[in-house]
Amino acid sequence: MMQSLSTRHLLGIKDLTESDIQLILATAKEFKDVINRPIKKVPSLRDITIANVFFENSTRTRLSFELAEKRLSADVVNFSASGSSVKKGETLLDTVNNILAMKVDMIVMRHSSPGAPHYLAKHIPANVVNAGDGTHEHPTQALLDSFSIQQKLGDVAGKRVAIIGDITHSRVALSNIFCLQKQGAEVMVCGPATLIPKHISALGVRVSHDVREALNWCDVANVLRIQLERQQIKYFPSLREYSLYYGISKQMLDELDRSIVLMHPGPINRGVELTSDAADSHHSIILDQVENGVAVRMAVLYLLAQL
Ligand code: CP
Repeated sequence: MMQSLSTRHLLGIKDLTESDIQLILATAKEFKDVINRPIKKVPSLRDITIANVFFENSTRTRLSFELAEKRLSADVVNFSASGSSVKKGETLLDTVNNILAMKVDMIVMRHSSPGAPHYLAKHIPANVVNAGDGTHEHPTQALLDSFSIQQKLGDVAGKRVAIIGDITHSRVALSNIFCLQKQGAEVMVCGPATLIPKHISALGVRVSHDVREALNWCDVANVLRIQLERQQIKYFPSLREYSLYYGISKQMLDELDRSIVLMHPGPINRGVELTSDAADSHHSIILDQVENGVAVRMAVLYLLAQL
């Protein structure tokens, strides 16, 4: 296995090699041991300053990056577009160049525009980590999802993963498709036809519009939220109807012939894509995903800082 990444930015899973993914997951395993020790900190990034630049809301990703950075002993600054001079008309590049002028080494950015981190990476000298760019990619989510599958089932290769929900508006779906396929997993996407891109089978995924078929087929169900904030038109009659046809309950999971693993990147809309009893059941590894996110982000930051 190669010992350094093939890229100095993490912009998307599309750009990673299988070796990059394996290196990140193996490094995350070591960091998971670290954060489960009484002293959760290592000095690996002691002289590095990282800015978390968030132009979109976040709970998990933002806190997870901040904790990962602190566990690695980096100095951390946090920027939110709300309350900043972006509101006075400052451009993305001016904003980031001003942050870099304060001797910041690495930028972690969430932005609503697909491609924003790619644009940044072309114009600034610092490493850039994509923490979610619009409907495009969310690479660290896909990596922590794969790490969680690995931790639960031993391996990602050969597993069948159904991604169920709003595929059209989901950056988690695209990053997961790339990440899982690069590791030799089979992927199915499932949802109403209006929430699945027309030509998605060109990516080599199966397509189903029947949630029970997807659950019967898979080893892992990764369930996504309906992204109402990204929908300009109505894609289905009502949330109640969506829940009736695509919502997953504990009873549906209990009635399957074999046990499957239930995942969700969060935030969950309880009562829409998952009932509370499903989300909180023994099938679910949703909070394990959150725990694993810190170790995976430590691995990404540590490996990028070596380049
Ligand atoms: N999974 C995820 O990206 O959650 P946040 O939007 O809360 O960061």
